[in-house]
Amino acid sequence: MKVITTPEEMQAISQQNKFEGKKIAVVPTMGFLHNGHLTLVKKAKEVADIVITTLFVNPKQFAPNEDFERYPRDFERDKKLLTESGCDYLFSPDISSIYPIDFATSISIGGVTKVFEGESRPTHFDGVALVVLKLFNITLADIGLFGQKDYQQTLVIKKLVKDLNLNIKLLITPTVREANGLAMSSRNRYLTDEEKNKASIIFLSLEEAKNAIAHGERRRKMINSVVISTLRSVPEIKIDYVATVKSENLELADEFLPGEEVVILIACFMNQTRLIDNTIIKIPTAFTENFIE
Ligand code: PAJ
Repeated sequence: MKVITTPEEMQAISQQNKFEGKKIAVVPTMGFLHNGHLTLVKKAKEVADIVITTLFVNPKQFAPNEDFERYPRDFERDKKLLTESGCDYLFSPDISSIYPIDFATSISIGGVTKVFEGESRPTHFDGVALVVLKLFNITLADIGLFGQKDYQQTLVIKKLVKDLNLNIKLLITPTVREANGLAMSSRNRYLTDEEKNKASIIFLSLEEAKNAIAHGERRRKMINSVVISTLRSVPEIKIDYVATVKSENLELADEFLPGEEVVILIACFMNQTRLIDNTIIKIPTAFTENFIE
């Protein structure tokens, strides 16, 4: 695996690969890699000839009060994990090569960026969209891979691609979890073992909601209250938001219809650490309970 640090060199390498008829996949990350990231890299290897993983802790997607400075970093470990996962290029630029001193461009995406995560972190998605667009342009990727773990982020990037006619296919992969169900995240580094155990309630609350839907629940408020009451069984958890919405556009409905796909979104704090998770559920077309005779 080659490490590339400048946009110019990365773009030149990508151009050469494209000239040779190779298909390029990009996996944008902020590093401190875990199995969630590595699953994306392995998937990328299956669908493309060349895999570029980008490692850049993007200052523009952190608010001043957030954890940009203390975001976990371990370049050597990331490099080793990526080499083992079959990544071809690690693009790891300096902040100054992505945002030079005279950088003056911003992106603003409407709609899906304004609710839930966007309400709690108002500048976050514009920062994500800006860096992802730059990374697409630098890597000239044919395919971009993203995790369902950051569900709203996937919608924002889909919107970016559609609205700006970007010539790139997106591939979204399922959330990779710890054995206890906790979604893997670089920020889990901030949690003690005890907190990690307790944070598994987040996954459990999604499972409870799934169960309720399997047993016929269709009312948004009732689904949310199953999640909320499960989360409340752990006092260290403070809920930021819990929402059950249509997966396509994050729209609310009082009751969901058979065949509709919904997503349950959770953002909460485990003590000081902010965690997000979600699950996608298709509302069954007919309510059939299995009776055992
Ligand atoms: P980061 O949090 O490092 O995540 C990089 C990619 O890995 C994202 O697409 C994210 O959804 C995916 N991912 C994270 N945890 C995962 C898990 N448990 N299972 C599956 N996929 C997982 O998301 C970002 O970085 C940044 O916002 C970025 C897109 C790189 C822009 O700066």
